[in-house]
Amino acid sequence: MTKRVVLAYSGGLDTSIAVRWLMENHGVEVIAVAVDVGQASEAGGEDWDAIRNRALATGAVEATVIDARAEMAEDFCVPALLANAKYEGKYPLVSALSRPVIVKHLVAEARKHGAHAVAHGCTGKGNDQVRFEVGTRALAPDLEVIAPARLWGLSREESIEYAAKWDIPLSVTKEKLYSIDENLWGKAIECGVIEDPWNRPPEDVYTMTRPTATEPSEVVIGFESGVPVSVDGRALDPEPLIAELNRTVGSYGFGRLDMVENRRVGIKSRETYECPGALALLMAHADLEDLTLERDLHHEKLRLEPRWSELVYDGLWFSPLKQALDAFFAESQRHVTGEVRLRLDRGQCWVVGRRSPVSLYDHGLATYDASDTFRHQDAEGFVRLWGLGVATWSAVQEGRAVGGAAVADSNR
Ligand code: ARG
Repeated sequence: MTKRVVLAYSGGLDTSIAVRWLMENHGVEVIAVAVDVGQASEAGGEDWDAIRNRALATGAVEATVIDARAEMAEDFCVPALLANAKYEGKYPLVSALSRPVIVKHLVAEARKHGAHAVAHGCTGKGNDQVRFEVGTRALAPDLEVIAPARLWGLSREESIEYAAKWDIPLSVTKEKLYSIDENLWGKAIECGVIEDPWNRPPEDVYTMTRPTATEPSEVVIGFESGVPVSVDGRALDPEPLIAELNRTVGSYGFGRLDMVENRRVGIKSRETYECPGALALLMAHADLEDLTLERDLHHEKLRLEPRWSELVYDGLWFSPLKQALDAFFAESQRHVTGEVRLRLDRGQCWVVGRRSPVSLYDHGLATYDASDTFRHQDAEGFVRLWGLGVATWSAVQEGRAVGGAAVADSNR
């Protein structure tokens, strides 16, 4: 029987050529698998029928489209939200979150079709190859991974010639100036003029954050145990909730990032992102934690969050430390329940209010007015003991005590 390979297929130039290239160079049958993780949202979604037909016309023996939008939202975006995940403090891991979803489906399809390998269209310079391969090895250590674009050594022009030679149908609109990767959690835009980190990204790179709203407004996001469950009091599942926030928050032009980031493969790259829904949700979720998390738990969580983001960025979604951190974060969220009020106005989104039935904010303790319940006399002894160590150090080792008085005396 001819060997079979399951290819992660996007419908673009590289994965289309990969179908033919795998057939010619590996003598295999290709099963093209396209995974819908919520890309092309502003266009109302991809034309999946066209993508499927292109794979078949290119030579795939089978082409499948998998709707993974709800899974992407619930099993990937939500855990990222619980972890307040931002790589290098900024990037909410857009592409890094979709790769493990795709990997899960590639492996399942490989099993279903008795394939010996999976393949992807990534080049050797990016993070996505790392995520595809490390993810596949974690879920199916016996499967081979083939990366045609790393092997064929074709320039962009040669790729187009190759496509012409084999009558590979291409959608012209796909071959644009930028390299774009998109899903429910946002959009990454690379290449073209923005490869020069000094160049301002041209306005036309942005599609999710075109500022069309003219009047300021507010949006209230409800959370239950850290999971976003409502918008303005309307209950929504994670996928429609994120999609709706992408639209409303994006219409204020909020959610753009322009950064230089450290790729896993040692390259610094200039990255432009649009993540309106993700950044608004991350802001609201972190704010609700300020209100509901006990101090030690909160501080420890803040220390672990960057580690989670690094693991996921580095392709270790399926790994024991990441799993253990997920368990910690899930436990930390038991009381992260309540509502956060966001204000939207001209490119800005910020928190203007928060409330929770299990808030740790105690007005009686915090207030400076007559309803004050704080026992002021307790503070004096607390502060004296708190400072005792440094007072002793200062007197004995720094010689700062006036007239040689010992600290112990002044404490009696
Ligand atoms: N630098 C980002 C990341 O590593 C974005 C990658 C975008 N991928 C792409 N094929 N254009 O997550």
